[in-house]
Amino acid sequence: MAKKYIERGLTNLVRARPVIIVVTLHPDETVNAGTFGSYTNVSGSEIGIAIGKPSHTYKNIKRTGELTINVVTKPIASAAEICGQDLPENESEIKKACLNCEPSKKVSPPIIKESVANLECIFVKETEINYHSFVIVQCIAGHIEENYIAKDGGLDVVKAQAIFNIGYPEPIYAILSNPFRVKT
Ligand SMILES: Cc1cc2nc3c(=O)[nH]c(=O)nc-3n(C[C@H](O)[C@H](O)[C@H](O)COP(=O)(O)O)c2cc1C
Repeated sequence: MAKKYIERGLTNLVRARPVIIVVTLHPDETVNAGTFGSYTNVSGSEIGIAIGKPSHTYKNIKRTGELTINVVTKPIASAAEICGQDLPENESEIKKACLNCEPSKKVSPPIIKESVANLECIFVKETEINYHSFVIVQCIAGHIEENYIAKDGGLDVVKAQAIFNIGYPEPIYAILSNPFRVKT
């Protein structure tokens, strides 16, 4: 095995969570959609997301305390790139990305119909880290496409073809395949 030593971009070595689109509401009711890949599960019901402070997503979360998290799969991969663009604040990415909204049950921002899994979330707390803020949210409701429920009730990311950004900012994504059980 030949390994390269690096001191930058270290967390990219453990990048293995599907890309998400975070949906929030602007005060004028514009439905905002932003793409995020730098996040992690911090408890059974809480997720921490590194969100750029200038983003509309961050400002809307701070104003309203509510968001939805929507998993991106291969059939809607282009939506990840479109929702990653910096559109004017009063322009929704949803239509441009050819997505549709459905009402959430517990929060005001809608969920994305075409996503195989959606979470309804509320703001808990944040830690500022330079350009980003690490925003911790509590998930209070979820929606998952029945065909893609894994044995443990979670999302079968392989079957659902959930996409992972493996070259950001280049638009290069991958899906997982060939899961295997380790025998000891
Ligand atoms: C695949 C992908 C992953 C991204 N991940 C993040 C991320 O984790 N954190 C972040 O601040 N921006 C991330 N971005 C950039 C945001 O999507 C971008 O700043 C977007 O304009 C935010 O939208 P908003 O201003 O409507 O909130 C990502 C973009 C792409 C395409």
